[in-house]
Amino acid sequence: MPTEIKKIIVSITGASGAIYGIRLLEVLRECGVETHLIVSKSANLTIATETSFSIGDIKKLANYAYHPSDIGAKISSGSFKVNGMIVAPCSMKTLSAIASGMENDLITRSAAVIIKEQKKLALMVRETPLSAIHLENMLKLARIGVAICPPVPAFYHNPTTLDDIINHSVARTLDLFDIQTNLIKRWQGISSKN
Ligand SMILES: Cc1cc2nc3c(=O)[nH]c(=O)nc-3n(C[C@H](O)[C@H](O)[C@H](O)COP(=O)(O)O)c2cc1C
Repeated sequence: MPTEIKKIIVSITGASGAIYGIRLLEVLRECGVETHLIVSKSANLTIATETSFSIGDIKKLANYAYHPSDIGAKISSGSFKVNGMIVAPCSMKTLSAIASGMENDLITRSAAVIIKEQKKLALMVRETPLSAIHLENMLKLARIGVAICPPVPAFYHNPTTLDDIINHSVARTLDLFDIQTNLIKRWQGISSKN
């Protein structure tokens, strides 16, 4: 039996850090993972502000791309099999909509389907500082198994470039989907004299 190709839904929403979603698409493509992309309306603004990518360039990185209002797309149904979904970056608005079960566009509908089908959902949430409302929304989702993956930089791998920092968060999120990349040096331990 041939091994099935992994399928991941990637959504880029209007939090700062559109590059995380873009890098994810690049890496998933290199890994041979089939990607289904939804870019929110607000993400068009962050992409233009923060990156030199056009929406067309980004769509070309995905196997399939959908408009957020395309509520009839195949990924809106649990009968279309995917391995999971990553929202990168995830705005507090989209976090809140997912946490409250609001399914008013393809992004939040797809996330709701992933949750009901008990597949892996990872949210690369980005905001600072975080209010109690943000934290409660994250806790509510974490309690039902949603992975809350803020792209918080680590320094134990001695990053020297922005790429190092971006790749680290992307690779650690993909670890949750058992998608192995060669993007990062893994911690090998350190001898302690204490
Ligand atoms: C340049 C820019 C940066 C933003 N950064 C953030 C952010 O880091 N986190 C966040 O939750 N919202 C951020 N926002 C606000 C969201 O874009 C806004 O709440 C929007 O309604 C989110 O919609 P969406 O989730 O459908 O993309 C930012 C907006 C702009 C224009």
